[in-house]
Amino acid sequence: MTSLSPLLKQATPVVVDHALGSWIYGTDGREYLDFTTGIGVTSTGHCHPKVVAAAREQTGKIIHAQYTTVMHRPLLELTDRLGEELPSGLDSVFYANSGSEAVEAAVRLARMATGRPNIVVFQGGFHGRTVAAASLTTAGTRFSAGFAPLMAGVHMSAFPYAYRYGWDEDAAVAFALRELDYLLQTRTAPNDTAAFLIEPALGDGGYLPTPPAFLEGLRERATAHGIQLIIDEVQAGVGRTGRFWGHQWSAAEPDILVTAKGIASGFPISAIAASTATMSKGWPGSQGGTYGGNAVSAAAGVATLEVVREESLVENALLRGEQLHAGLLRLKDRFPAIGDVRGVGLMQGIEFSAADGTPDAATAGAVQQATTEQDLLTLTCGPAGNVVRLIPALVVTAAEIGLGLRRLEAALESVAETAPGTGPAFGHDAGSRPGERVAAGAR
Ligand SMILES: Cc1ncc(COP(=O)(O)O)c(C=O)c1O
Repeated sequence: MTSLSPLLKQATPVVVDHALGSWIYGTDGREYLDFTTGIGVTSTGHCHPKVVAAAREQTGKIIHAQYTTVMHRPLLELTDRLGEELPSGLDSVFYANSGSEAVEAAVRLARMATGRPNIVVFQGGFHGRTVAAASLTTAGTRFSAGFAPLMAGVHMSAFPYAYRYGWDEDAAVAFALRELDYLLQTRTAPNDTAAFLIEPALGDGGYLPTPPAFLEGLRERATAHGIQLIIDEVQAGVGRTGRFWGHQWSAAEPDILVTAKGIASGFPISAIAASTATMSKGWPGSQGGTYGGNAVSAAAGVATLEVVREESLVENALLRGEQLHAGLLRLKDRFPAIGDVRGVGLMQGIEFSAADGTPDAATAGAVQQATTEQDLLTLTCGPAGNVVRLIPALVVTAAEIGLGLRRLEAALESVAETAPGTGPAFGHDAGSRPGERVAAGAR
C-alpha cells in the first residue's frame, strides 16, 4: 500500500471533511476552531462565499492561461488591486506560486540590480524550504541540515530577540544594529552586500514582532550603502498584523516586498513588488514559470482583496488581536510555564520556558496537542519548538476569540494536571532573571 512520506509531519490527527470561516469540520464529526488557518493562509476564513464564487466562475472560463504565453484578466485586475495597497514606489509586480519561489525571485533581483553577491539575513528568520530559500532560513537547522552545500553568499546577523537576551526592546535593538554594523565591517562589505532580508515579524522563528526601530535602522543602512531592503511579508502581510503590511508598524519601506499566503485565501499564488527601475535591472528572461500567476488563484486573489476591504478585515485583525493578546496575558499570570506572550494583530505567540529560563519544548508540544483535544487547532514554532502560535482568520469574531481562549485555558489546565511539578514547571517562579535566560538560550 502506498502512503504519504514519513518525513511529512502532521501537527494534528485531524482529517478534514469541510471547513467554513474559522471552523474545520473533521471526518470524526468534531467541530474544530481553527487558529492555524493553514499557517496563516486562509485570511478571509475557510471558503469565503465571495472567494469560492470567484474561483468557480474563473474555473469555467480558463484555468491555466500560461502568463508567458498569453495574458489573462484576473492577473491584470489583481495587479491593479494590489497596487492600491503597495507602498507608493513599488509599481512593478512579478508573480510566482509559493513563498519560497517569491523569496528566491526577490534575492535574484537584488543581486542583479546591485551586481553584488551577498545577502544578510537575521537570526530566526524563515524564508522557505527550496534550497536557496532554505539557505536564507535560520529558524532552525531542521530546515537546512543534511543537504549541503547550501547557496553561498548568505550571512546572518542578530535579531533583536529581547526575551531571549533578557533585555528590554531598546537594548536588544541597539545590540542587533551594532552587530549588523560589525558584520558589514568584518564579513560582508557594503559594496559586496546586495540585500538585507527580513520578516516584519518572525514567523516560524518564534512569532516575534520585529521592533519598528530595528526595521528603520535597516532602512537607514540600506539607503546609505545602496543595499536593497527586502521585506518578506509572506506570513505577516495582507492584514494579519492589523496593518495591511506588517512593516507598516514602522516608518521603513522596502525596496522589494514579498507576499504570498493570505493574498488569495488558500489558492497558491505569490508575488514580489519593486519599483519599475529596480525590476528593469533584472536580466531579461530571468522571471517566468509554468504555473506562476494562475488564473483561478488570481481571481481568488482579487476577491480576497475585495473582502479584506469590504469587511474591514485589517481593522478586525487589530481589534481581535488586542482581545487575544489581553486574554493570553491573563493566562500568563495563571500559568508560570508561560515565559512570554507577544505578537501583533492576529499573529500571537506563547513562549514556554522552564524554571531556569531554558526553552520548554515539551510543554509547548503538550499544550499544542491538548488544544486539539479541546477542539482548538494550534501550531508550535520557534527554533526549539517551545512557542505555541495562534493564527486565527482575519474574519474571526469576538465570540470565537473568547471561545478559543477558554479552550486554550482548558488545554493548559489539562497539561498542568498530567505533569504537576515536572518539566512543564506550572508553579515555578515566573520571574527568572535575564542573565539566566541568555545563558540558557546560548546552549
Ligand atoms: C515569512 C515566510 N517566508 C517564506 C515562506 C515560504 O513560503 P512557502 O511555504 O509558500 O514556500 C514562509 C512559509 O511559511 C514564510 O512564513
